[in-house]
Amino acid sequence: MHNKFPDDFLWGASTSAYQVEGGNLNCDWSKWEKETGHENCGDACRHYDLYKEDLAIAKALSHNAHRLGIEWSRLEPAEGVWNEKAWDHYKQVLDELFKNDIEPILTLHHFTLPLWLSEKGGWLYPGSPDIFRRFAEKAARTLGTRTNYWITINEPNILAILAYFWGQWPPCHKDFNEALNVLSNMLRSHALAYASIKENAGKTARVGVAKAVTAFHPYSLLSPLDRYAAHARNSFHNHAFISSLIKGKIGFGPLKGEKLLSSDTLDFIGLNYYFRQFIRGGRDILKNPFGEVVSPPPRAGKREITDMGWEVYPEGLYEAAKSFSKYCLPIIVTENGIAARDDEKRKIYIRDHLTSIMKAINEGIPVKGYLHWSLLDNFEWDSGYSKKFGLIEVDFETQKRRIRPSAEYYSKIIQTGLPNAREE
Ligand code: GAL
Repeated sequence: MHNKFPDDFLWGASTSAYQVEGGNLNCDWSKWEKETGHENCGDACRHYDLYKEDLAIAKALSHNAHRLGIEWSRLEPAEGVWNEKAWDHYKQVLDELFKNDIEPILTLHHFTLPLWLSEKGGWLYPGSPDIFRRFAEKAARTLGTRTNYWITINEPNILAILAYFWGQWPPCHKDFNEALNVLSNMLRSHALAYASIKENAGKTARVGVAKAVTAFHPYSLLSPLDRYAAHARNSFHNHAFISSLIKGKIGFGPLKGEKLLSSDTLDFIGLNYYFRQFIRGGRDILKNPFGEVVSPPPRAGKREITDMGWEVYPEGLYEAAKSFSKYCLPIIVTENGIAARDDEKRKIYIRDHLTSIMKAINEGIPVKGYLHWSLLDNFEWDSGYSKKFGLIEVDFETQKRRIRPSAEYYSKIIQTGLPNAREE
């Protein structure tokens, strides 16, 4: 039984290009914000210019890993046209990480699409997998010597459902079959990108996806309908994408059974974990196998609720790691964090989620790293700037950074390797 994290554990924080960089006007999200009157991402944290300062803070906080994204709409502003200056920028960012001894974990696609691709239909466009492969190939050729870890696509399910089924994110469609098509195109895209990264960045490149995972629990443990619906959500939302990649076949929807380029196109699994949801199964289980999300039952006890309205349930991270261990692949927690104006809550959140990971490691589950969401307060998609996820507070008027006490606390944990390190 260990009570310390392994010495080679990856410790750090996560960001995405659009949420921190600023000045990204050439993508679908920026257009959507303007058209719908949503809060504008605008300058964000100006991380595109201030990255050295931000990475120096990460270094000072003892981070040895950092998840960052590259913004496709900057890099390929028109179809087939590369903006070499932007590619050079990311080379410099990766060099800066290298100088600071920080392992990069590079995301190719994190929700935003270049305008020209969204105008063709985005992830619904039948040619999207090949277009993504071309982007991955260019990234591997250009940045391949500067990063070992690659994440092709961030949270495929969240994007497919929120943007193509719930109509909440651009392109605001409401069609479940479209969401299934989007997921199928993302599966094809990942498989193609995997092969291309290996070919162009070298066999030692480690390629994964960042998968959103929710702890789905039945509202009533005694109700077969509730149990069925929670199970259906777990199979579809949490596992179907990953198991399709491992089997090399689309595992759901009208294209079920279609072969991907190859099987086993994952070198690690990235888990993004935030909360638990309770599920009630409807009577019409055939029409709606996924049931409804309902408020927690009394047995859940009194749990903290974040500023996003999400229930804090640290045990869920252990449950997620355990259920993904069946794939026998290394696991990296690629996102986990809390929107909280009260920073004390962030400390407790970090401590309790790391305790859950420690438990998983003690059971032999290969969790290799933890990347807290997020390094900086940033643009939280359709919730804008009101949600404070940062280890570092950002004053969006002055662009001044202030290290939060929770960041110092996390740093202590990193230094000692103890999930509940004492504060001085
Ligand atoms: C994830 C997403 C991140 C961040 C986070 C907090 O779904 O990948 O970009 O927004 O949620 O809500």
